[in-house]
Amino acid sequence: MDSILVTGNGPLKGQIPIAGAKNACLTLMPATMLSEEPLTLTNAPRLSDIRTMTTLLQSLGAEVSTLQDGQVLAMSSHDINNHTADYDIVRKMRASILVLGPMLARDGHAVVSLPGGCAIGARPVDLHLKALEALGAQLDLKDGYVHAKAPLGGLKGGVIDFPLVSVGATENALMAATLAKGTTIINNAAREPEIVDLAQCLRKMGAQIEGEGTSTITIQGVDRLHGATHPVVTDRIELGTYMLAPAICGGEVELLGGKRSLIEAFCNKLEAAGVEITENENSLTVRRGDNRVKAVDVVTEPFPGFPTDLQAQMMALMCTAEGTSVLEEKIFENRFMHAPELIRMGAQIDVQGGHATVTGVEGLKGAPVMATDLRASVSLILAGLAAEGETTVSRVYHLDRGYEHVVRKLSSVGAKIERIQEQ
Ligand code: UD1
Repeated sequence: MDSILVTGNGPLKGQIPIAGAKNACLTLMPATMLSEEPLTLTNAPRLSDIRTMTTLLQSLGAEVSTLQDGQVLAMSSHDINNHTADYDIVRKMRASILVLGPMLARDGHAVVSLPGGCAIGARPVDLHLKALEALGAQLDLKDGYVHAKAPLGGLKGGVIDFPLVSVGATENALMAATLAKGTTIINNAAREPEIVDLAQCLRKMGAQIEGEGTSTITIQGVDRLHGATHPVVTDRIELGTYMLAPAICGGEVELLGGKRSLIEAFCNKLEAAGVEITENENSLTVRRGDNRVKAVDVVTEPFPGFPTDLQAQMMALMCTAEGTSVLEEKIFENRFMHAPELIRMGAQIDVQGGHATVTGVEGLKGAPVMATDLRASVSLILAGLAAEGETTVSRVYHLDRGYEHVVRKLSSVGAKIERIQEQ
């Protein structure tokens, strides 16, 4: 397994282009199954999770071609000839459950393996299943698989009341409802930019949707959807991650494609910590001079709150801040696995349940550390950039799931970082 070697750095300077959003692309890809006509995605990120979704769609009979060095995905689901999403693929990536709604809506039946738990918590899929039941689906759980059947004549519009906000369940429900007969209302829907992006793409395909980006989405089912071409929205988590690089090392970095509206809550916290952010026409510039950042408290919440996917990276910054901050994780239990690794680098962190109390130290020290999940791995890289000496982050396959060309992007702004390939 490869590892990444980071050497503590001075200020960073330059530009980093931000890719299309992994999480948006992972829901736009299954949307191809809603239509027999081609769906083309531009601005796709080059990531192993996207390759996993490609393999899954191909296993169901879809055609997926990657063009322009992986940035364009040309898909066609003309011939879906297998309706079982196999455990061997689903277990690698939870987002695989997103094929359930589209397959069921289009062909009236689908079998999808249950994804099981993952490193950051139990992560059930009950809300996905309840939403599809509200549209008339009959579900049986057998041998670790969900067997789903639509009523004769297809799914029917219905009212879906989510007891808690779920991004994935909202996406599955939204996709399924586009082809259900009649009107569907999704209450307590997720409002993430990835949901808005999905709704915009579905509308290009002929879907009738209103209210995306608010808590109530209304969908008027149509008989069929057609082909479309759609650019994937900017990855707000990659954006926030790279905004933290100059925040933690000092310097000035422009994030190309960055928009404040994608991560307003995060920007507000960064500014409260003493980091300067300027919004330009199609980028954000982040600047920190010689001042040490100040401790700020963070509570993760569904959008428009502070994203859980930036909590680990923010913790790395808080490890070097002046004062004590409390980070509260409200979305996923067990999402502080980066804390013990940061402590190996000299950080002072006390985790109690869903709270981590971080007392900033003047300097971190390089150490060998282990990536435990996607966002944790990049937080260790950020910490390594701010630490004295060398940090080796092992198990970087986690990183490859969600960050394209991380070494190239950080080196281009002056970071000392390299990938060590296993012989
Ligand atoms: C998506 C993102 C992930 C991000 C998360 C929260 C993708 C591919 N992944 O994950 O990066 O961290 O949103 O912003 O888009 N829950 C249930 N039952 C369900 C579904 C969810 O109890 O059926 C719970 C989860 O355990 C969690 C909370 O709801 O506590 C929110 O999870 P959810 O928004 O569904 O996350 P994902 O869509 O899996």
